[in-house]
Amino acid sequence: MAQRQPVSEPGAIDAAARILGAGGLVAFPTETVYGLGADATNAAAVAKLYAAKGRPAFNPLIAHVGDSAAAHALARFDADAETLAAAFWPGPLTLVLPKRAGCAVADLATAGLDTVAVRVPAHPIAQALLARLGRPVAAPSANRSGHVSPTTAAHVLADLADRIDLVLDGGPTSVGLESTILAAAGDGVVLLRPGGVPRAAIERVLGRGVSAPREPPGEAPRAPGMLASHYAPRAALRLDAAAVQPGEALLAFGPVLPAGAERAATTLNLSSRGDIVEAAANLFSHLRALDRAGVAAIAVMPIPHAGLGEAINDRLARAAAPRR
Ligand code: TXA
Ligand code: MG
Repeated sequence: MAQRQPVSEPGAIDAAARILGAGGLVAFPTETVYGLGADATNAAAVAKLYAAKGRPAFNPLIAHVGDSAAAHALARFDADAETLAAAFWPGPLTLVLPKRAGCAVADLATAGLDTVAVRVPAHPIAQALLARLGRPVAAPSANRSGHVSPTTAAHVLADLADRIDLVLDGGPTSVGLESTILAAAGDGVVLLRPGGVPRAAIERVLGRGVSAPREPPGEAPRAPGMLASHYAPRAALRLDAAAVQPGEALLAFGPVLPAGAERAATTLNLSSRGDIVEAAANLFSHLRALDRAGVAAIAVMPIPHAGLGEAINDRLARAAAPRR
């Protein structure tokens, strides 16, 4: 059974680094969502991580490192990658880059690809842990495969308590959505997953447009994480709902509720003041709360697409996709 360790306790980071160094599994907060960490250089630890997640072993993992220098030891950066790293690290951006010869990340963690996904998280607990361990940490979101990503330590334990060694409790995460994933691996910059860094911010830094994810939900994935039904609550979602149907719960956005809102079984508002950043931070915990309330169907109000709205709409489209 996993221990839940408030990071305020002295020695918490040391203990977590010791467990990772010995091949164990530690969940920890990043500014996006909680990650389930394993020593990325230890194939046995990475195998344990896949087993804990119930994740298909072909799905590659993000290698988390403490700074840009550590990322350069793993991967080759072209000019665009350098620009992006300088602008957004530490932060909610993942770069998929060509693996450098002698890259310390275990082949199992990259699913045998010749690219590696790297990220420098900004969260102080993640930073402290990476500094203490001094090795890259492979970390998918700390949920069972197919569930929504955890934004609190309680979410992590609900999914994984009996499968991991420790969760560092750093309170709710601030961004609430996973990192934006960009590939810069020889054919320009491609947006693989919208996330915590809005596309407009990326385009401003690059001085040009970036192509959207190539496969819309429902098509065969190139990156396995693009599976349409990856982010799945139990309840059925109806998107862009202009009215609430009998029996539905309501996932609202903004101060003005749709017709029939008064008959909603339960209502949770992503941001009653219509703030897209607040909505992102609340998305996964509200989906989990509606699942816990046992609702069968959720009407979701239209969410604007600007800024973090692109990533929110992407996750909602996946959550609404038919299950496989
Ligand atoms: O915010 C985040 O990114 C969180 C925190 C913990 O850092 N992590 C996260 O990891 O969301 P995960 O494993 O749930 O999603 C990572 C995605 C997967 O869809 C995976 O397929 C993709 O990154 N990925 C990893 N390596 C890749 C590669 N070499 N090429 C293409 N896609 C890759
Ligand atoms: Mg995930």
